[in-house]
Amino acid sequence: MSARRLSVGGLHLAAGGHALVRGVSLTLRRGRVLGLVGTSGSGKSLTTLALLDLLPPGVRQVAGMVALDDAPADRVALRGRTVGLVQQAPRGGFNPLVTIGRHFTETLACDGIRDAAARDAMLELLREVGFGDPASVVGLYPTQLSGGMLQRIMIALALARDPDFLLADEPTTDLDLVVQAQLLDLLERLVVRRGLGVLLVTHDFSVIARLADQVVVMDAGQVVEQRPVRRLFEDPAHPRTQALMAAHLALYA
Ligand SMILES: Nc1ncnc2c1ncn2[C@@H]1O[C@H](COP(=O)(O)OP(=O)(O)OP(=O)(O)O)[C@@H](O)[C@H]1O
Ligand SMILES: [Mg+2]
Repeated sequence: MSARRLSVGGLHLAAGGHALVRGVSLTLRRGRVLGLVGTSGSGKSLTTLALLDLLPPGVRQVAGMVALDDAPADRVALRGRTVGLVQQAPRGGFNPLVTIGRHFTETLACDGIRDAAARDAMLELLREVGFGDPASVVGLYPTQLSGGMLQRIMIALALARDPDFLLADEPTTDLDLVVQAQLLDLLERLVVRRGLGVLLVTHDFSVIARLADQVVVMDAGQVVEQRPVRRLFEDPAHPRTQALMAAHLALYA
């Protein structure tokens, strides 16, 4: 049975006695995109990593619980199988010494998928994220691919174990607008086709407008606003949301 909801409640994170995230709660739902926005350093990535118990060294969880359909979840067991992760800055997520194909075979082997079955699964995943000739990619090394291609491969790897949820941290940052648009189309297709529940972390309001159903705004480690996307754009309530939106309009209007 796949889960319907993934939530974190009352998350507090600290480093060296300094609070970084304070009382954050949010819920992902299957088939929905939850946008998480906020200025740089507001705690978006740490909140995302805490969902899978992947906090960097030095950052400590002081309080908070992760639940799957309201039952407390073993966060290590969620990794890959229930929740896929697409990390900020895709290049860092790959081993530069290992081919793209081997990244897939190692991930698929976690579920006992090997040999011809692994190759079929890998080619199908690469096709699903938009590679017309997937066989030509598997022998390449990460350094031989563009940022947009790596980002799509990162998504394919995150989907390899057929998770119910996907955490995508700034998946379109550093990509040109055409590739960005392709990636957003891809995420939208995955939500519809697989019924994925997506946490979409971004500081780009046009990405939010394009994809999110519900939006959480963070500022200085706290959630300051949480509402459906249309209402956020019509009537941003918190001064921080208003400032972020004004900055966005100044850039793109
Ligand atoms: N390993 C760490 N040790 C100590 N402090 C950290 C560590 N990682 C992050 N922080 C601090 O925690 C806060 C939140 O960081 P986080 O990376 O979650 O921000 P963010 O909202 O994802 O920002 P960005 O939009 O730049 O990616 C920042 O003040 C950051 O300096
Ligand atoms: Mg971040």
